Amino acid sequence: MPLLAGCGTRTQSSLAPESHAAKDIASLFWWMMGGAWIGLGLVVALLLWSWKRRNRRGIGTDTEGAKPGEKVAWSVVVGMGIVLPIALLATLFVISDIFVIRTTEAPAANATRLTVHVIGHEWWWEVRYPSNGAVTANELHIPARTPVRLDVTTADVIHSFWVPQLNRTIDAIPGRTNAIELYADKPGRYRGQCDEFCGLQHAHMAFYVFADPPAVFRRWLAAQARPAAKPTGAAAGAGEAVFLSGPCSTCHTIRGTPANGYVGPDLTHLAARTTLGALAIANTRRNLADWITSSQSVKPGNQMPDVAVGGKRLRALVAYLEGLK
Ligand code: CUA
Repeated sequence: MPLLAGCGTRTQSSLAPESHAAKDIASLFWWMMGGAWIGLGLVVALLLWSWKRRNRRGIGTDTEGAKPGEKVAWSVVVGMGIVLPIALLATLFVISDIFVIRTTEAPAANATRLTVHVIGHEWWWEVRYPSNGAVTANELHIPARTPVRLDVTTADVIHSFWVPQLNRTIDAIPGRTNAIELYADKPGRYRGQCDEFCGLQHAHMAFYVFADPPAVFRRWLAAQARPAAKPTGAAAGAGEAVFLSGPCSTCHTIRGTPANGYVGPDLTHLAARTTLGALAIANTRRNLADWITSSQSVKPGNQMPDVAVGGKRLRALVAYLEGLK
């Protein structure tokens, strides 16, 4: 039973496909799995068969000349050991390479109505929508039932972008842009994960793809392109001053303010996201305060230092960030 412990949840499972590409990958998996079980069954059957015949007279007692059954044995070796594997592997090659690789291929540039740029960082994902200048991180939205082209690259080391329910993996390689199609059969939230070991916090380099009904998506995208909301209330106003005068603004951008750092995620609409630190923690008031003051405890080794701010200044800062809808 512990072997099946990971099978209960259907989030982030390539065996719970929600797109045509992921369905092709899943059926390829099941065909390969079925073939492997048949192969295993054959080998076990042969073992049992030979074990049952182990006491037959004439085998193993003399070494001269052909023994009864030896010709049969050679044809079994050639048939099962050479011909069958070649036929099986060739069939699988044709299915995977000719069919599945093609059906999971990225659409040509400009062939889709929407192209999204994804840039891997240690250890988070930058997401840009060139059509209107929207920028976000770790939570990308796409319209459901609409093919979207993703151009994927990296700002540092090799990462790999993978949403198991929607498509295969695509590597983010320095100096290169690789493309993949994202398509979701129905609206929903699909979890993704960096699929290439990239350092200390590789495991905390996750992301969500939200597939929205098209009208909801259009509203979201328009909102993400707007500059940040002006702070409302005295606390949020004071928080903006803390942000702009402190270390925050050297690493983060908030569009519509002088903060234009590019080391960490764009925070213009931080409050519209559900998580912090590439899905490390939920985006709640308490977690946000913890993240600011002790992100090295929450996600050790990440690029953000613990910020020495507390009391009233911290509460103001959190109030300001929570207003960035
Ligand atoms: Cu990025 Cu693993």
